[in-house]
Amino acid sequence: MIEVAVMGYGTVGAGVVQVLTMNSEAIARRVGEQVHVKYVLDLRDFPGTPVEKIVTHDVNDILSDPEVKIVVETMGGLKPAYDFTKKALLAGKNVCTSNKELVAEHGVELMEIARDMSVNYLFEASCGGGIPIIRVINTSLTAEEIEEVTGILNGTTNYILTSMADEGKGFETALKEAQQKGYAELHPEADVEGYDACRKIAILSSLAYGKHISYKNVDTEGITKVDKTDVEYADKLGVRIKLLATSRREKEGIWAIVAPMMIGDENPLTAVSGVMNAVMVKGNAVGTTMYYGSGAGSLPTASAVVGDVIDCCKHLHVNIKSDYSAASLELMPAGDVARPFFVRFAGTEEEAEALFGQLHDVVRLDDVENEFGFLTETMAEKDFKEKAASTDKVIKWFRRGKKEEE
Ligand code: HSE
Repeated sequence: MIEVAVMGYGTVGAGVVQVLTMNSEAIARRVGEQVHVKYVLDLRDFPGTPVEKIVTHDVNDILSDPEVKIVVETMGGLKPAYDFTKKALLAGKNVCTSNKELVAEHGVELMEIARDMSVNYLFEASCGGGIPIIRVINTSLTAEEIEEVTGILNGTTNYILTSMADEGKGFETALKEAQQKGYAELHPEADVEGYDACRKIAILSSLAYGKHISYKNVDTEGITKVDKTDVEYADKLGVRIKLLATSRREKEGIWAIVAPMMIGDENPLTAVSGVMNAVMVKGNAVGTTMYYGSGAGSLPTASAVVGDVIDCCKHLHVNIKSDYSAASLELMPAGDVARPFFVRFAGTEEEAEALFGQLHDVVRLDDVENEFGFLTETMAEKDFKEKAASTDKVIKWFRRGKKEEE
């Protein structure tokens, strides 16, 4: 029997206990022995629930128990999760987590400790919830030089953008509905400002390119400025506005960005609706591959955590090697990246052309006067921004996913 402790009995932690119980036979078959939850650490008690007898309020019960080989950290946040995780690893225990804040902030250090202690720090559930994307990068695509990772990595924003596009809702209404349905947090900044997606693409890109990418260096824009008129223009152009988290290897280096982008039907991510997530990974041999599923929720996220628990069971005292080094990867400036831009312009076509060159896909909305929209030629972002800043006629702009991003 392998003993497990779960730190944090919230949505994901409770899901982990549920999956381990519900699928205990299949899990035992795959591991070769029973996997049993010995402790649940939480500030609360859970009287009348299946875990009431195994709740502890003292992390030392877990840390000092030599029978506990695997600790699940589903507390979220940095404090006290960082301290508890570090102590668990230093005590020779494997740790599996869904905590993307912690992985993005201290993942390198925690992985190094795990390596030194010949245990594992695994975090499949930190990116894309139930989508097994980290294992794909670490295990399945190891023959590849990875050229690009692009995903819809935040369910809340995808729900909001889908409801704006499909039902004509405004941002605030769509956000309120997402909150009522339990998709968005009461304090949704991390989602709507793109911070959540930023941490996830930083983690995935670090694994994909083999060097640490700090989430602090990833240019990040959220969706709070997307309005109904933008969505109407997108509709008329036959594209969708999606919050893409993307990184890509160019001849000059690797860049990464999180931003609302216009993408067309050619891009399978356009069809990813509601709270669903998807990730595309492009390798130099395999080409483009894509992974789709629930990016959040108790059981899908717990499934990813339990997958890690099972991996730990199979490698209790062996560090599973991944291509993640402490060396920092200096990202190419986002300003050097070239792509077309969609512009809402309050002037004449001649004025727009004089500034941006040839205009493509000029569109006008019946109910919006004194402006029109168009796509520019492909140009470097810094050149585009310089032109846009030289006039007060640019109302707003979006990046248009270029062909290779599609
Ligand atoms: N708030 C996140 C989302 C949850 O909306 O995708 C999963 O990380």
